[in-house]
Amino acid sequence: MRYFLAALAGLTCFFAMPPVRAQNAARPAVTFNGQVATILYRNCSTCHRPGEAAPFSLLSYRDAATHGAMIATAVSARIMPPWRAQPASYAYRDERRLTDSEIALLRDWVAQGMPEGTGKPPEAPQFPSGWRLGEPDLVVEMPEPYHLKADGPDIYRNIALQLGLTEDKWITAIEMRPSARSAVHHVLYFADPNGRVHLKTSEGSEPGFSGMRAGGATVPLGGWAVGAQPQFFPEGLALRLPQGSDLVIQYHFHPTGKPEIEKSVIGLHFAKQPPSRSLISIQLPPVYSLFSGLDIPAGDRDFVIRDSYTLPVDIDAAGVSAHAHYLASKMKLTATLPGGEVKTLLAINDWNFNWQDQYYFRDLAALPRGTRLDAEIHWNNSAENPNNPSNPPVRVAWGEQSKDEMGALTLIAVPHVQTDYRALQRDVMAKRTAMAQQRIFADPSLLRKISELLAQ
Ligand code: HEC
Repeated sequence: MRYFLAALAGLTCFFAMPPVRAQNAARPAVTFNGQVATILYRNCSTCHRPGEAAPFSLLSYRDAATHGAMIATAVSARIMPPWRAQPASYAYRDERRLTDSEIALLRDWVAQGMPEGTGKPPEAPQFPSGWRLGEPDLVVEMPEPYHLKADGPDIYRNIALQLGLTEDKWITAIEMRPSARSAVHHVLYFADPNGRVHLKTSEGSEPGFSGMRAGGATVPLGGWAVGAQPQFFPEGLALRLPQGSDLVIQYHFHPTGKPEIEKSVIGLHFAKQPPSRSLISIQLPPVYSLFSGLDIPAGDRDFVIRDSYTLPVDIDAAGVSAHAHYLASKMKLTATLPGGEVKTLLAINDWNFNWQDQYYFRDLAALPRGTRLDAEIHWNNSAENPNNPSNPPVRVAWGEQSKDEMGALTLIAVPHVQTDYRALQRDVMAKRTAMAQQRIFADPSLLRKISELLAQ
C-alpha cells in the first residue's frame, strides 16, 4: 500500500496546491466541523483509533488535518476505507464504501487548505472498551502468549483452545481481540469435535504448531482478517459446535519490525436454539484451486482459473468470501439463473492480500435449482504487479506459504428447504472428489503433495 501511495504522491501535491477550485463559486466551502468530521467518524474511526490496527487515529480535527493529503489520496484511489467489492446485483450488509460525493468533499476540503470551520464540531464517536458485538456467551483466552520476533518471514501457527462445552452449541458470531493488533494478519477458526488438538505438543519454544490442516480439526468456522469487522451470520443462521470441541485458531502472523506478544481473547456468541437450516460452503474452485492446475509462469500478466457448478437444489445465498495470496489481481463470482439472467455475487477488480473479507448480503439471495455459478480468478505474476513478493518474478504454484498461491471464491448458503441439505452436501463433495481424481490421474506427483499436506 505504501508503494501505491508513493506512486500517487504527485496527485497529493495537486490536492495540496493553492485552492484554485475553492474560488469556483460552484464548489461549496468544505470544513471539518461542517462536513468532513461526519464522514470520517462514520467510516474511518472504528479502525483509526487507539488500540486498533490502523496506524493513526481519526478522532479530531488535528488528527485529520495532519493526515489530510494522505486521506485525499487514499479515498480517491478507494484504498480506504478497505472494501474491495464492486457494487453487485445484491446489496451487501455493512457496506464500507464512500459515495463519489463523499470522496469529492474530502478532496475539496484538502484542496481548500483543510479549514476547521466555525460552530460546534460533531461529537467524536465513543468506543466503550467492551466488545463490538456485545457481551459474548463464552470468552476464551490463549493459554500461553506467542512471542513474535521483530523481523523474518510470515508465520502460520495453529493454537488450540479447550472450550469445556458440555452440550452442543450453535455459533452465531466469533469476535477476536488480538493483543498484537498489527501483527495478526488473519485467522481461520476450526472446531475439533474430538477435543484432542489441544493435547498436541507445541513445536519449538512457542505455543502451537504449523500445518494447514489445523492438527486435524475438521470443521471450518470461518475467519477474521485485519480490517474485517466481526459479524453475526444473517437471519439467525449458525454453525454447529459439538460438545467437547476444541477451538483451533490458525494464525497468520506478519512481523511488524518490533517484537510483539500475542495473547488473544476470543468471544463466542451462541444461538438460543438450533437454526432450522444448515449453512454450507460452496467453494469454487474446491480446495483453493489445488486441483485446478495453479502454476503461474514467471512474468505471466494474466493467469486465469475458472470453475463452475450447477446447483442441484434451490438455495438461499448469505454471502461470499474471497481468498488468494499476493499475486491475485481480480476475481468474480456470478450466478446465471435458469432463465439466463446473470447476477454478480462478488466482483473484486483490485485484489489486495491485506483485506480478505466476507461479504454478506443484506437479504438472503434466492438461487433456484439449475442456477450455474461461475468463478473466475486472475493472477498477475509480472514485475508490474506492485504486490509481487519476488523481484524478478519467479514461477509460483499452489502452496500454503503466502509466497505460494491459492485462490477461491466461497459461497456461503443454506438450502431453501432443509431436507435438501444432505443432497447438496453430497453433490458438492462428489464434484470435489471427481476433480481430485481427474487431476491426480493427469499428474500423479500431485498425490504425493496432497499426502504430505494431509500428513501435517
Ligand atoms: C476496517 C479498518 C479501517 C477502516 C474502516 C479505515 N481504515 Fe484506514 N487504515 C487501516 C489500516 C489497518 C491501515 C494500515 C494499512 C497498511 O499499512 O497496510 C490504514 C491506513 C490508512 C492510511 C495510510 C496508508 C499508509 O500508506 O500508511 C490512510 C491515509 C487511511 N488509512 C485513511 C482512512 C480513511 C480516510 C478512512 C475512512 C474514510 C479509513 N482509513 C478507514 C484500517 C482502516
